[in-house]
Amino acid sequence: MILAIESSCDDSSISITKIDTLELVFHKKISQELEHSFYGGVVPELAARLHIEALPKILEECKDYLKNLKAVAVTNAPGLSVTLTEGVAMAKAISIALNIPLIAVNHLKGHIYSLFIEKEAIFPITVLLVSGGHTQIIEANSLTNMNILAKTLDDSFGESFDKVSKMLNLGYPGGPIVEKYSKKGDYNRFDFPIPLSQSPRIEFSYSGLKNAVRLKVEELERTNLDEQDISDICASFQKTAVDHILQKLKKLFKQKTIKDFAIVGGASANLYLRQELENLCSIYNTTLHLSELKYCSDNAAMIGRVAVEQYKENDFISLEDLDIKTRLKDY
Ligand code: KG4
Ligand code: ZN
Repeated sequence: MILAIESSCDDSSISITKIDTLELVFHKKISQELEHSFYGGVVPELAARLHIEALPKILEECKDYLKNLKAVAVTNAPGLSVTLTEGVAMAKAISIALNIPLIAVNHLKGHIYSLFIEKEAIFPITVLLVSGGHTQIIEANSLTNMNILAKTLDDSFGESFDKVSKMLNLGYPGGPIVEKYSKKGDYNRFDFPIPLSQSPRIEFSYSGLKNAVRLKVEELERTNLDEQDISDICASFQKTAVDHILQKLKKLFKQKTIKDFAIVGGASANLYLRQELENLCSIYNTTLHLSELKYCSDNAAMIGRVAVEQYKENDFISLEDLDIKTRLKDY
């Protein structure tokens, strides 16, 4: 079995996965949403302190499995430096105490493998990754052959939901909150411009849309922003944010035949996005793959799933070489 640790942002999570059957024998996550909600976003130092409390608590719950471990895996990039450090420190300690090898896992690869928890992987697959830190289209051919086809020039899809929620004082994380308000709103009420709609390039941008929403909120606040206005803003924003993705994906689907397509990352839990992509994929005869909702946001199950593949490839790292990286240019 492999024990995997995730602490790249505001979720403390540990999983234990069987190497031969891929069975997820243990998985637990403690989220810090409530603690960060007050600040309208993740406060790195607070997150690090909460990981220090949560990770040992979770480890205690799975201590009976420790004797069966063949390796210990940990997310080492990308993420917040002070929070990644906590997971890496724990992984190193376990590696020394049990004398087992270490595996360093790329968090973004983890999101891709969230599609394959307790399942065999499917390659090649084209993946839209929409999280708090990233918006990318990745062509995934194998564990070690993944190319970024497109990315955002500024904010990410999930981050734009967080910022809209913050502008409206609705709390953190913004994605599920904005989605909830959208259900009661009229998405035709505000005509926010679809980003980069005139550009032939396949790339994303969310800062302009965020500012358009900000101006509208400020305008409405001068009178009186009521519950219906908030719902209409959320619905109009969400529709525009998703339309931007749809426009760019249509371009991609016209350029190349894609048999298998997937959405992963925290924001892939958005049901409106899922439904719209379902419709788009059916037009282009593409099979849409989705992670289970419980594996969309950050978790250690997906890290353990990648680690199993790395274990089979003997992709280990020494104690001295295991370091954190806050950013990653490629896979
Ligand atoms: O993958 P994730 O858990 O963490 C990162 O690696 O960033 O993604 C978190 C992001 C947050 O920005 C959150 O607001 C967004 O995913 N998110 C959503 C939804 N649920 C979470 N965005 C839109 N709609 C949702 N339902
Ligand atoms: Zn993530």
